[in-house]
Amino acid sequence: MTILVLGGAGYIGSHAVDQLVNQGYDVAVIDNLLTGHKAAVHSKARFYQGDIREKEFVQSVFQKEKIEGVIHFAASSLVGESVENPLKYFNNNVSGTEIVLEVMHEFKVKSIVFSSTAATYGEPEENPITEMTPTNPKNPYGESKLMMEKMMRWCDEAYGIKFVALRYFNVAGAKADASIGEDHAPETHLIPIILQVALGQREQLAIFGDDYPTEDGTCVRDYVHVEDLIAAHILALEYLKAGNPSNIFNLGSNSGYSVKQMLGAARKVTKKDIPAKVAPRRAGDPGTLVAASDKAKAVLGWQPQYTEVEEIIATAWNWHVSHPYGYKE
Ligand code: UFG
Repeated sequence: MTILVLGGAGYIGSHAVDQLVNQGYDVAVIDNLLTGHKAAVHSKARFYQGDIREKEFVQSVFQKEKIEGVIHFAASSLVGESVENPLKYFNNNVSGTEIVLEVMHEFKVKSIVFSSTAATYGEPEENPITEMTPTNPKNPYGESKLMMEKMMRWCDEAYGIKFVALRYFNVAGAKADASIGEDHAPETHLIPIILQVALGQREQLAIFGDDYPTEDGTCVRDYVHVEDLIAAHILALEYLKAGNPSNIFNLGSNSGYSVKQMLGAARKVTKKDIPAKVAPRRAGDPGTLVAASDKAKAVLGWQPQYTEVEEIIATAWNWHVSHPYGYKE
């Protein structure tokens, strides 16, 4: 039986495919390669290039493969872009997921592990954020992910399709051997941008605001290593396979680091003097987002291995040093 990974050529999806294959799962991948990289997909996974919004294409993959479960990473994920172009997010994310659920229902596939986000919470008054914290997305990206979660809930009630939604905080790092890693164009995420400055590919880091109500005034985020994050997906697959009910889990580290602390940690790891200047706030950035991930630990038995941001940054740095142009070489 096969696990179908949607968006398996992306940053997070490619780490999932790699871990699944290495743990002995049979894996098929769908990716439209709009943002993903074919070279990131493990050679032992069967690759189908195409778009989840094209129902006949998705049906053809379900016909060829004996799919037991789906892991769904195929989505647009830039907060700023979603504010400028919300319909792109409702089309790619929400309509795409609707097609996936239709085909799953048609082929009687009953398990889906879903890539959700802390952006479903918006800017909560309290940190750490638990799964009981009310959702209140502040941008179309977060809204689209919440809509996708809700669609799955109703599909569970009507058709018995069980889901686990994993709400990610800030995913970072790369596989320990640096064979796969993060390669976005354009890059908007803090750690890769800092490391591009360390490599001399950018002049300096712009720190987006230092007047937030945090200790040093810069935004606080909760960083989780991509390999730990994927371990939770595999546990979630097994959880569903064991007949457990649909569920939602936060994935983070229970600790927050400010932008300035991350910069300091990156200077330590890279031993480079990474220039930075304070710039205006970026629209839509909440001051603090820290996860309570106790539920994933208690229910799924999740045990993250990377507990220090320096270790997370070090794996990202190995990837950047060995692949300064990402997958292009
Ligand atoms: N930042 C800078 N300068 C930069 C880039 C980022 O100061 O050049 C700051 C941001 O303002 C933010 C922090 O670094 O405070 C982290 O920013 P990222 O863009 O790396 O990550 P976000 O917290 O904005 O977003 C991440 C995911 C989203 C997800 C969100 C949920 O990338 O997909 O977490 O909170 F929706």
